[in-house]
Amino acid sequence: MSVKVLGLATSPRRKGNTETLLDWALEAAGEAGAEVTKLRLRELEVNPCIACDGCFDGGACIVEDGMEELYPLLRGADSIILAAPIFSMGLAAQAKAMIDRCQPFWAIKYVLRRPLIEPGRPRRLGGFLCCAGTTYSTVFDGARQVMRYFWHVLEVEPAGELLCPGVDAKGEIHDFPSAREVARDIGRRLGVREEA
Ligand SMILES: Cc1cc2nc3c(=O)[nH]c(=O)nc-3n(C[C@H](O)[C@H](O)[C@H](O)COP(=O)(O)O)c2cc1C
Repeated sequence: MSVKVLGLATSPRRKGNTETLLDWALEAAGEAGAEVTKLRLRELEVNPCIACDGCFDGGACIVEDGMEELYPLLRGADSIILAAPIFSMGLAAQAKAMIDRCQPFWAIKYVLRRPLIEPGRPRRLGGFLCCAGTTYSTVFDGARQVMRYFWHVLEVEPAGELLCPGVDAKGEIHDFPSAREVARDIGRRLGVREEA
């Protein structure tokens, strides 16, 4: 069975820098034989978490919106690649809202004390692709911290990260040295299942 790779384009900018990185990664994953699903968050209606604690009862979110499509994909994927720009020194709000809406997964694990992922399943892998317009030394710090949390909640092992500073105008990613090669390498690695 081929590896299921879920790619999430979280930028509101269509075909922007981070979506381009994601497309490079997913193209390589597909070439490696993976079954690739790509979703653009701007095309789903993903509202912020309302902290109702509704998921504490049965582990499901009570809000009816685009997350209903995403929940099974996030849980079922063998690899997840999230592409996001830095907005205001952190993950773009679209990405952060989706991550906050993963609270049902947190509730399943830490409130209901049930397994999120079936025992014995091969380890799940995650890749993070990110661009920032500036080159501030701390520009990716906040986003990386949130991503560590996201991977932890989803029981995904971080297995590839591409951070591109100084990439601002649409299309500038094409001038970032080796971005395409590194994105493709991440996609290829996340697109194949490791031998047991
Ligand atoms: C609302 C907004 C806030 C931004 N905030 C920052 C920031 O704090 N630091 C930074 O380096 N770049 C910032 N940027 C620039 C983006 O990170 C940069 O343009 C990136 O390449 C966008 O990726 P995309 O084309 O995938 O949307 C911001 C852009 C927008 C639209």
